[in-house]
Amino acid sequence: MHFLVTAGPTREALDPVRYLSNRSSGKMGYALAAAALAAGHHVPLISGPTALPAPPGTTFLPVTSAADMDHAVRAALPTADVALFAAAVADYRPRQVASHKIKKNAPTLSLDLERTPDILGSARAAGFRGLLVGFAAETENLLPNARAKLLRKGCDLLVANDVSQPETGFDHDDNEVTLLFPNAPPRHLPRASKQALAEIIVGVCSQLMVPSPP
Ligand code: CTP
Repeated sequence: MHFLVTAGPTREALDPVRYLSNRSSGKMGYALAAAALAAGHHVPLISGPTALPAPPGTTFLPVTSAADMDHAVRAALPTADVALFAAAVADYRPRQVASHKIKKNAPTLSLDLERTPDILGSARAAGFRGLLVGFAAETENLLPNARAKLLRKGCDLLVANDVSQPETGFDHDDNEVTLLFPNAPPRHLPRASKQALAEIIVGVCSQLMVPSPP
């Protein structure tokens, strides 16, 4: 099968030398790509800027901004069977990108931001009928927020992650997540390496792709 994976942060340019971004390292997405590859799948990996080497064997598609990632995903979705949206896409970008470096002339500076495309949230409207897997990074009300996201974005599986915990989540090698499904009870995966969790998540996706007997 084709397992499309998005990973890493996006960068939203402010001027020629500055950008808005977030703390995503890309580790979870790259671990998912490696696990899907090891399970014998084709893996287009659409990644924002990270310090990680692309897992050999993936079709590596580097992008920078949310708009770039959106274009790359739209091009890859029609051939995907499973789409795992692990990227931490910036939700807002500067409304205008200054063509020259912004100078510090004033004591304060306000940024005017606009929404970026919701890549996961528009996958169903774009015609994707495969297995749609979202990720939710939350710092409060983990399960209610994640469940609302699962339903709002039309996902078959949502991987919920409490990023307020000190030793898991953003930039750590370990993670602790809960898998949420539209019509089945949640499944908690206790703290483990991102590689180990990725293997479980890829296995769950493969099971969900098996047609149930009549
Ligand atoms: N996502 C996306 N495009 C965006 C924002 C998020 O594809 N512009 C995807 C992420 O890859 C992730 C999921 O949506 O799989 C949830 O991301 P998250 O930032 O937790 O949720 P948001 O929809 O941005 O909601 P909020 O920030 O209000 O919690």
